[in-house]
Amino acid sequence: MFKVYLVSSFLLGLLLLAQAHGNDKKIGFYQLKRGDLHLNLTNYGASLISVIVPDKHGNLDDITLGYDDIEQYKNDSWYFGATIGRVANRIGHAQFTLDGHTYKLPANDHGNTLHGGFKGFSDVVWTVKSHKEDDHITFTYDSHDNEQGFPGRLEVSVTYMLIGTNKYSLKMIARPIDKATPVNLAHHTYWNLKGQNSGDNILSHEVQIFGSKITPVDKELIPTGKFESVKGTPYDFLEPREVGSRINDLPGLYDMNYVLDASSPYHFRKVIIVREKVSGRKLELWSNQLGLQFYTGGMLNATKGKDGAIYHKHGGMALETQGFPDAVNRPNFPSQIVRPGETYKHYMVYRFTAS
Ligand SMILES: *[C@@H]1O[C@H](CO)[C@@H](O)[C@H](O)[C@H]1NC(C)=O
Ligand SMILES: *[C@@H]1O[C@H](CO)[C@@H](O)[C@H](O)[C@H]1NC(C)=O
Ligand SMILES: *[C@@H]1O[C@H](CO)[C@@H](O)[C@H](O)[C@H]1NC(C)=O
Repeated sequence: MFKVYLVSSFLLGLLLLAQAHGNDKKIGFYQLKRGDLHLNLTNYGASLISVIVPDKHGNLDDITLGYDDIEQYKNDSWYFGATIGRVANRIGHAQFTLDGHTYKLPANDHGNTLHGGFKGFSDVVWTVKSHKEDDHITFTYDSHDNEQGFPGRLEVSVTYMLIGTNKYSLKMIARPIDKATPVNLAHHTYWNLKGQNSGDNILSHEVQIFGSKITPVDKELIPTGKFESVKGTPYDFLEPREVGSRINDLPGLYDMNYVLDASSPYHFRKVIIVREKVSGRKLELWSNQLGLQFYTGGMLNATKGKDGAIYHKHGGMALETQGFPDAVNRPNFPSQIVRPGETYKHYMVYRFTAS
């Protein structure tokens, strides 16, 4: 009798544990605060909802695009603030071959796969592994074998950590458990240094990108496999220049992968500097990634955002450090295949100043 009781209370314990685990998966909002730097986050997509920083007069504004409630995040097609995976950016013809096996993926973008498929890491509920409001938050996600067509289990963690009072780091780690898989995570916040509710676009923001080549794309935005110098083209941001200054010379929009200059691959270095004159705000981004997808929000169109804000064309810019698009089908691009026993590591540091 006693034994039965023990066994059943053990089972009950397991059940409660399982429920507690399930409860962890409730969608919530989490703050990180130090000094005047304030981040609001959610475990839905391990997403960044807002970043509040001072301008040159000390006025605080939220400088990221996003929504007021979670239902809008669930229905979002812009990936505001989200963690993108298992493979960010496009995979041509929604398939790839690895170790002799061809994997078919969801075709959610004109016959290609975009940002991990219909329900990528941006559209799942992550577990809050640890959170300390004046320090960091870690989200984890256990992606199962064949999730959105990708091979094998993948354990992923994303940590946002405050550094001093005007910086934070973002670390994205992934470990395949049982099969080799492509991994290419990206962070998809849209920035507007004037303030997300300024009503103004980012065309007057000044940008410097430390990348002297791009990987040009075809009309479906799949790389041709070539590398081209930015010199003398509207893609040249090697010296600081306003986003809008040559935008009319572009064949399309700024939605392009830059090959970041580096003394050695995966060297942690400065990627981009963005400045806005009226607020005096400056954002600097460092990363260890090979590429930067630079997207200036050219497809936004009257999207309803936070606090009654309306995001029009070029309302914010996404600075997505990552590997090169469609690398899984491009033998001349650095491989994104990670095998069991190996660890994918993607680091970013964001710094905010105003003067
Ligand atoms: C965090 O963001 C959510 C969704 O936009 C919002 O409902 C909540 O009020 C925010 N929390 C804080 C403290 O800003
Ligand atoms: C969901 O998004 C679509 C298109 O982006 C929009 O037309 C629709 O109103 C949205 N629905 C809700 C409930 O926000
Ligand atoms: C923007 O949205 C409006 C209203 O939905 C639509 O009429 C217009 O064609 C859209 N513009 C573009 C460039 O997609």
